[in-house]
Amino acid sequence: MKEASLHNWWQPFTNVRGFRANPRLIERAEGCFVYTSDGREILDITAGLWCANLGHSRKEVADAVHAQLMQMDFCPPFQFGSPVTFRFAEKLVEYAPEGLNRVFFTNSGSESVDTAMKIATAYQRARGKATKTRFVARERGYHGVNVGSTSLQGITNNRKGFPTIDGVDFLPDPLDIASNAFSRGLPEKGADKANVLEQIIAFRGAENICAVIVEPVVGAGGMVPPPQSYLAALRAICDKHDILLIFDEVVTGFGRTGSAFASVEFGVTPDLMTTAKAINGGTVPMGGVFIKEDIQQTIFEAAPAGVPEIFHGNTYAGAPVAAAAGLAAFEIYEREGLLTRASGPIGRYWEDALHSLRDVPHLIDIRNYGLLGAITFAPNPAEYPTGVGVPVHNRCFENGLLCRAVGDNMVMSPPLTIQESEIDLFVKRLRQSIVDVLG
Ligand SMILES: Cc1ncc(COP(=O)(O)O)c(C=O)c1O
Repeated sequence: MKEASLHNWWQPFTNVRGFRANPRLIERAEGCFVYTSDGREILDITAGLWCANLGHSRKEVADAVHAQLMQMDFCPPFQFGSPVTFRFAEKLVEYAPEGLNRVFFTNSGSESVDTAMKIATAYQRARGKATKTRFVARERGYHGVNVGSTSLQGITNNRKGFPTIDGVDFLPDPLDIASNAFSRGLPEKGADKANVLEQIIAFRGAENICAVIVEPVVGAGGMVPPPQSYLAALRAICDKHDILLIFDEVVTGFGRTGSAFASVEFGVTPDLMTTAKAINGGTVPMGGVFIKEDIQQTIFEAAPAGVPEIFHGNTYAGAPVAAAAGLAAFEIYEREGLLTRASGPIGRYWEDALHSLRDVPHLIDIRNYGLLGAITFAPNPAEYPTGVGVPVHNRCFENGLLCRAVGDNMVMSPPLTIQESEIDLFVKRLRQSIVDVLG
């Protein structure tokens, strides 16, 4: 590739100047592996960006996309609708937590979060509670990059300096390594952090708070499973004060935790649920907000007749090609049992494999849930001011492993199709990469 051709695409969340000096170009992907332009095979332990849950380049999805493009490339979603999109919505709600049987399609997780904020606000207004406009998010939370979702960001670099809306408070960071280091599954300690919500409500007034939004398992912020009973405690406080609860399941949706959704896995039902990424195996941009039927009904009843019930939506929302990819993806999810595979033997193998790294001296924590994992390095700001994760991540790529660094953490989310031999290879390459960098 000519050097000049690397200059025109400004990649997101990328150290572009560093990339230009050492480009990591990936040209092909299949199953759990990606292939670089110079022909190297790399084990993808992140399912792309938490999205290729079916493994890469599934022929059935590609065929469905091709067939849909040949039949109808586009259908305007404003005042019209394609049958394939209605069929996909019907398929999705088969797996949704109880009562969340309405889907508003978007093109990304960020759009899903902003859409959920608007729907939640519209609902409060529709039922005569127009002062309920504030949101409560959580430190370390990642909810995307649009202005609404940026305002909910609990990761400081993603929020500070950008335009944000007023009226957002933050629950405390759920990561507590001092109390829960090396927990397997849900950590024991920390459910009491949910009680801070009571303090925020006392300070702001329940009559001013629209919704609380959290990722059931923190994803991009470092993969942190919720303390036992924590989510149920949040649900109870929201119910007590008539506040909506939104689960951002952009990462945890579609089999990642061992159930179709984390809310099903943990038995805590939100009022709205945001999704994207693996909704169609990460193949065609798509997101979806799942909404309780009575929330939709309330908004409908308050809207004047003859106009859209909500003045909101995107050109590509529910695009037929994305929906066709989704239906094909769900055929694979169902046939291969992928939506629950992480709760079976492969999830236990993953847990044991990750925790086998416990003897690595630089690690202060290992976390796992379903087919999610994370390790945390002892911070070393003098040598690695932006975190220990990045140099290890870079070395991993050289050693044939694609994973993600978040500060002093490395986070993992393999395709749900991963096999034991590939997990073994992951552990071997990660261990080697840590030794190569940190000794
Ligand atoms: C929990 C969560 N919400 C929202 C988003 C934003 O999704 P997108 O990058 O598709 O806009 C992400 C992306 O990683 C996410 O992890």
